[in-house]
Amino acid sequence: MSRDTLPTDNPAVVTVGLPYANGDLHVGHLRGYVSGDVYARALRRVGQQTAFVCGSDMHGTPIAVNAAEEGVDPESFALEYHELYERTFPQFNVEFDNYGHTHDETNTETTREFVRTWVEQGHVFEKEIQVAWDTEEDQPLPDRFVEGTCPYCGEHARGDECDEGCQRHLEPGEIEDPVSTITGNPAEYRRREHEFLRLSDFQDYLQHFIDRLEGTENASNQPREWIEGELQDLCITRDMDWGIDYPGEGEEDLVLYVWVDAPIEYVSSTKQYTERVGADEYDWEEVWKPGGEERLGAEWDESWDDETGEIIHVIGRDIIQHHTVFWPAMLRGAGYAEPRAVLATGFVGIDGKALSTSRNRAVWADEYLETGFHPDLFRYYITTGSGLETDVDFSWDRFAERVNGELVGNLGNFCYRALLFAHRNYDGTPDADVSEEVAERITGAVEEFEAAVGEYRLRDVADVAVDLADFGNEYIQRNEPWNLVDDDPDRAAQVIRDCVQLTKACAVLMQPVLPEKAADLWDQLGETGSVDDATQAAALDAPPADFGEPSELFTKIEDEEVEELNETLRERVAAASEDEDDDGDEAESVDLEPLAEERIGFEDFQAVDIRVGEITAAEPIEDSDNLMRLEVDIGVEQRQVVAGIKGLHDAEDLPGTRCVLLANMEKAELFGYESNGMILAAGEDADLLTTHADAPLGTKIR
Ligand code: 2FM
Ligand code: ZN
Repeated sequence: MSRDTLPTDNPAVVTVGLPYANGDLHVGHLRGYVSGDVYARALRRVGQQTAFVCGSDMHGTPIAVNAAEEGVDPESFALEYHELYERTFPQFNVEFDNYGHTHDETNTETTREFVRTWVEQGHVFEKEIQVAWDTEEDQPLPDRFVEGTCPYCGEHARGDECDEGCQRHLEPGEIEDPVSTITGNPAEYRRREHEFLRLSDFQDYLQHFIDRLEGTENASNQPREWIEGELQDLCITRDMDWGIDYPGEGEEDLVLYVWVDAPIEYVSSTKQYTERVGADEYDWEEVWKPGGEERLGAEWDESWDDETGEIIHVIGRDIIQHHTVFWPAMLRGAGYAEPRAVLATGFVGIDGKALSTSRNRAVWADEYLETGFHPDLFRYYITTGSGLETDVDFSWDRFAERVNGELVGNLGNFCYRALLFAHRNYDGTPDADVSEEVAERITGAVEEFEAAVGEYRLRDVADVAVDLADFGNEYIQRNEPWNLVDDDPDRAAQVIRDCVQLTKACAVLMQPVLPEKAADLWDQLGETGSVDDATQAAALDAPPADFGEPSELFTKIEDEEVEELNETLRERVAAASEDEDDDGDEAESVDLEPLAEERIGFEDFQAVDIRVGEITAAEPIEDSDNLMRLEVDIGVEQRQVVAGIKGLHDAEDLPGTRCVLLANMEKAELFGYESNGMILAAGEDADLLTTHADAPLGTKIR
C-alpha cells in the first residue's frame, strides 16, 4: 500500500539535520537549511499544514574538546554558537517555526522519556565492551578522542565514523590501531560497562520501513545492506560529563551518546512549537505520536501509514545511516511514528575542489552577507545548481553567471518589462481576458510545481517560475505589444493582461525559493496581503487594476565584483596553504605518529607484495565524499582500486601518474566497487608514492 501523494490532510513537519554548535556556518551547511526551508514553504504553498523545525546540536566530543581548548565550559561554548545560528538563519530567509537546542529542558526530558520507554520495553541491555583508553591521562577516549583505522575499509577513521572511507558509523572499540587525540599515544582498550539499544529487535520492522520510505534514492538504497545484514546494536552511552545524563540508577558517570538526543530534538522542537501556538493550531502529537500509547510494542499496522503526520527529514548524505536505521528504530521502540521521507543532499564544493574548513577553502555565511548580495540569490543558486542528491559547486564566477543570466536577464527582465508596459499604458492591469494559451501555460506550471513537490524534486520546484518567465519573454517578443497599442488596442490589452498574469504566477511560484523577491513583486503588482498566504489558484486570479511604476527585481553583478571576490578567496586559500607549510615542521612533529615498537622480520616484509604501477584511468565515485575509482596498470595485469583521494587530487590529472601499489591487499567492496589493491600515499593530503626513475611497470618493490 502506498501513501497518498503530498499534500495530504495530515499535518507535516519538515526538519533539517541539526548543526553542531561548534563553528561558523558556511555555504555547505546552508545548502541543507535552505533546501529544508524551500521545501517547507513549497509544501505550505500546495496546501499542506507544515511546521519547519530544527535546533542546535550541543553535545558530543568535538564540542567538549573545543570548549576545553578555549578554557570555557561546554555549555557556554555551545550556547554562543547556538545564538549565532539563531541570528544567521533568518538572514538567509530560513525561517524556522521553532529553533531549539538539544541541551534545553524540553529535549532533556523528551530524551530521558524515550530512553525510559526503551528500557521498559526491554530494548536496552548492558554489556561490557572495550573502550579506548589513554594511559598517560588515565581517561577513556570516547568518539573523537580516538583515531585509527576503519575495520571495514582500512581507511583512516575518526571516533564514531569512517569519514574518509566507507562512511560507516563505528561503535566504541571497533577502530583498529587506536591512537589518543589528546596525547598522540597509542591507546589501549579497557573493559567498561555500557548500555545498548538492541537494534536487532527492529530488523524486521526496518526491512519494511525502508520499502515504504520516500525521498531521495540514496537515502533508501544506501542503508539496505545494513538492514539486510546483521544489525549491530547501538551503544547509547558514553564515558563523559558533557551530555544528557543516562536516566538509570547507578549509571551516574554515563551520559547519552550524542546521536540519541540529537534526533529527538526534532520531536522536542515540534513540541515547543505546539506550546507556542496551541494544539488547536498545530498538534505535535498528531504528527509524532498518533494513537498515543496504542502503537507502543504493537506490530506495525499498514493502516497506520495514512493515519500519521508527514515527517520529512532533510539531511546531508553523510548521515543517512543515522536517519534510516538508528532513528526509525528509536522512534518505533518508543511508540512514535516513522519518517515518511528522507531527503539526503549532496555536498557543496568550492571552485571545483572539496570544501575544506581546515584549509579555509570555504565561503562563509558572514562573508556572503558582507558582499551585499541578496540572500535569495544564494537560495536560488544552491537549490537549482544540481539535483538534491548531487554535489553543487560554488564559484563566484558561476554564481554571477547564473544570477545575471537567469534572474536578471530572464525572470527579472520579464516581470519588469511586463509591469512597466502595463503601468505606462494602462496604469495597471488592462481590462481584458487572459488568453487560452497563457492560461494553459500557467496551469501547466502550477501542475509541474505540485508534481515536483509530491516527488521531492526540489530543483524542479525552484525552476518552475524561471521557466515560466522564459516563456513570458518569448511570448512578449512574439506578440510585440508595442506595435499593437495604436493599431490593435484590444489585442495589445489582451497581450499585456497575459503578461501581467504571467508575472503574478511567477510571484506565486517563485515564493518558496525567492521569498523576499516574491514579496517585492507582489507589492509591485499592487496586491494586498502576503504572497506567502496566496494559494496556488492565485496564479490565475486577476491582478489589481491599478499599480504604480515597477522597479527592477534583481541587479546585475559586475565582472569587477566577481574578480574581487575570486581574488579574496584565492588569497585566503593560498595563505592557509602557506601557513600550513610554515608551520610544517612544528605541525608535523605534533602530528607524526610514534614509530612502531614492534619489529618485523624480513620474511614478514617479503609477504607484502608491492609493485610499480601506472594510473590509467580515474573517476570520482559520485555518492562518496572521498573515494575515487582508479585503474592501475601493474605490468602483469590491470587492477581496479578504490582510493580515498577524491577532493585531494583532480581525476583528470591522474592518468599517466606512476604509483606504488600494494598488490596482495585483501579485496574490499566500497560503494559497490571492488577494490583490488591499495595505492600508497603519505599523509592527510594523500601525497602519492611514486618511483625515482623508470623501473618497468610491475617491478616488485623490495
Ligand atoms: O552530523 C551532524 O552535523 C549532526 N549534528 C546532525 C544531527 S542530525 C539529527 F539527527 F539530530
Ligand atoms: Zn570505513
